[in-house]
Amino acid sequence: MTATAPTRLFHFVAGNTGPWRIEDARWICGDPLPAATHISVLPDTAGFQASAAAWSLRGITSNERYVTRAEKSALLARQQGLGRAQATRAALIPIRKNAAWWALTQDERRQIIEDQSRHIAIGLEYLPAIARRLHHCRDLGGSEPFDFITWFEYAPEHGSAFDELVAALRASVEWQYVEREADFRLIRNME
Ligand code: HEM
Repeated sequence: MTATAPTRLFHFVAGNTGPWRIEDARWICGDPLPAATHISVLPDTAGFQASAAAWSLRGITSNERYVTRAEKSALLARQQGLGRAQATRAALIPIRKNAAWWALTQDERRQIIEDQSRHIAIGLEYLPAIARRLHHCRDLGGSEPFDFITWFEYAPEHGSAFDELVAALRASVEWQYVEREADFRLIRNME
């Protein structure tokens, strides 16, 4: 018998209840999303119904596009998974890049992401404090409002390091191609 593969599709559902309370919602660029107080992250198998949500986004985990073998090995050696007990803070940062970005070729995009912007090298400096999961939206259909849903978890004492990381990335050439971005900072509800 074949084991069922874990789902790669995740829903990010905002409303007035959920395990993550929105501490801060920032609209970095582009249209904002409707107001909400809580966010739930639901694997597709949870049978989510969109009707009760203030808004919901979805994205799918995928293979890497840009990392070299050396970078992948460095990431695997340092990164930790989601769900750590001490990681009671999270950030949900949905991002859409512009048409100019998507008109580039794969090698041109890699050049911008790493050679010009050092996204991976900078990110590596923040492991293992920050745990992350990248979700892609473009291949789910034509009407997704963002291209990526990024999710990060960390302990409260690493909040300022996370701010520093985000500021470094937003100052990079790669971010000149970002046309819509929201930034939700979250606190996990304690049972
Ligand atoms: C915690 C440290 C971080 C590390 C180690 C890291 C690492 C990476 C890596 C390796 C990729 C490329 C994956 C591939 O090869 O396809 C990537 C992509 C991406 N990361 Fe980060 N990252 C970090 C933080 C962030 C932050 C804070 C943001 C948002 C503010 C972000 C947004 C993105 C986006 C949107 C992509 C997709 C880019 C694209 O495919 O065009 N990352 N990241």
